Amino acid sequence: MHDPATHVLSNSFLDDPQPTQRIETRYRRIVTPLPVPESLAILRRGAAVLPQVNCYQPPVVWDRAEGFQVFDAWGNCWIDFTSTAVLANAGHGHPKIRQAIIQHAHTGLLAQFSFASEIRIQMAEKLLELAPPHMDKVYFWTTGSEAIESAFRMARIYGMRQHPEKYHLISFTDDYHGCTLGAHQLSGMTAGKPWLTHPDAAIHRLPFPWMGPSDTDGAPDWEAIFAADIARCPVLPEQIAAVFIETMQGWGALPLPSPYVRALRKWADHHHVLLIFDEIQTGFGRTGYWFAHQHYDVRADLVCVGKGISSTLPLAAVLGPTEVLDLLPPGEVTTTHAAHPLACTAALANIEVIQQEGLLDAADRLGRIIRQELQHLQARWPDHISRVTGLGLLNAIHLSHPVTHRPDPRLARDLTNAGVRRGVMLFQVNRPTVKICPPLVIPEDAVREGVAALGEALEDVVSS
Ligand SMILES: Cc1ncc(COP(=O)(O)O)c(C=O)c1O
Repeated sequence: MHDPATHVLSNSFLDDPQPTQRIETRYRRIVTPLPVPESLAILRRGAAVLPQVNCYQPPVVWDRAEGFQVFDAWGNCWIDFTSTAVLANAGHGHPKIRQAIIQHAHTGLLAQFSFASEIRIQMAEKLLELAPPHMDKVYFWTTGSEAIESAFRMARIYGMRQHPEKYHLISFTDDYHGCTLGAHQLSGMTAGKPWLTHPDAAIHRLPFPWMGPSDTDGAPDWEAIFAADIARCPVLPEQIAAVFIETMQGWGALPLPSPYVRALRKWADHHHVLLIFDEIQTGFGRTGYWFAHQHYDVRADLVCVGKGISSTLPLAAVLGPTEVLDLLPPGEVTTTHAAHPLACTAALANIEVIQQEGLLDAADRLGRIIRQELQHLQARWPDHISRVTGLGLLNAIHLSHPVTHRPDPRLARDLTNAGVRRGVMLFQVNRPTVKICPPLVIPEDAVREGVAALGEALEDVVSS
């Protein structure tokens, strides 16, 4: 979504510091102009050596982060509604995760490639305890994009073993699956990318089953919608190897209609097509279950995970049955840092924290409160907030232009910056949404305070 016509982000931190309203509450502290004048030199050094593609978030130099809060070095403190990029499910720098990392670092085993180590095996066993029972192998990677890329590869091999022409793949408009070449092409936002000179002609896109504000699981007829959409696919089901789908569309925190997913499952079973859930953003308690596809009560053939798997260090994986995960011969596709021992250590501690602190229930309970509070904001600004969507602690408000009523990414950008000035850390998504996804350890009063501050920020934007 970097079409110049629609791209609204810039490295705004090069702007001059603006005065802020002083805020000192239990959870937030804003006591300097923003950007902090002393931080400008650092931000400009960054802009000099980092590509602009990486310099677009609100102009705060993160110094440390703990639990559900982010701190700079000049006395400011934010309630974090980002979990970085929906990653810190167990909170920032959880003491148990930190301790596990430190302890492991002392062993000196800080790289291992594909050599065996018990920590990697333990990590795979732990994931399989959480995974659906028919899954029995874990293919580790470092990033979510790589996990998708490998699922792409295995899906095609799996299909072509059934029939040489069964290699076509399906994905959905506006889904995001990553930045590597295959994952990027599976993503539904590849239009207008001139550098993609040879787009994969065997990837087809279905319209995302977007639930309108008054739609429910029961209406419209989602099964009929799926049947009509799949019938328009230019190849036969016998030629399709797999369907990739985000269990919630990330940019807008959009859940799927369950009957649609169940119809998709039934069709996939009938035609021996793999159904591959991208749970990279939604896994590990984020939506109130270990995996968000559990909301829809369907079986997954493969699940791709990352981000919240460790709440910290880079780790990703594909979970699935031996039949698919053993398709590649020994050593054919590996990567140097996959299942890094420190990342596995962090992930094991992370899973223990999620279990011991009841974070699945917390995500579910706090998510309901957040959406209720956000709906109050919507009732107050119905011309600016067109929708509130989400499950668990993956939520979004959808911004619209008060006159045209069209989706308004500029308003989202301005609200994000205004929220940061009010002491709520938000991130830019270059879409008409502001995402609200705090760490699952956030207390209820901080949730309420953060949403109230977001309301003040919207008032700031609207009144200016
Ligand atoms: C749904 C989804 N899939 C895949 C990815 C890619 O993961 P990574 O950024 O770790 O490569 C992301 C990252 O934001 C994501 O949200």
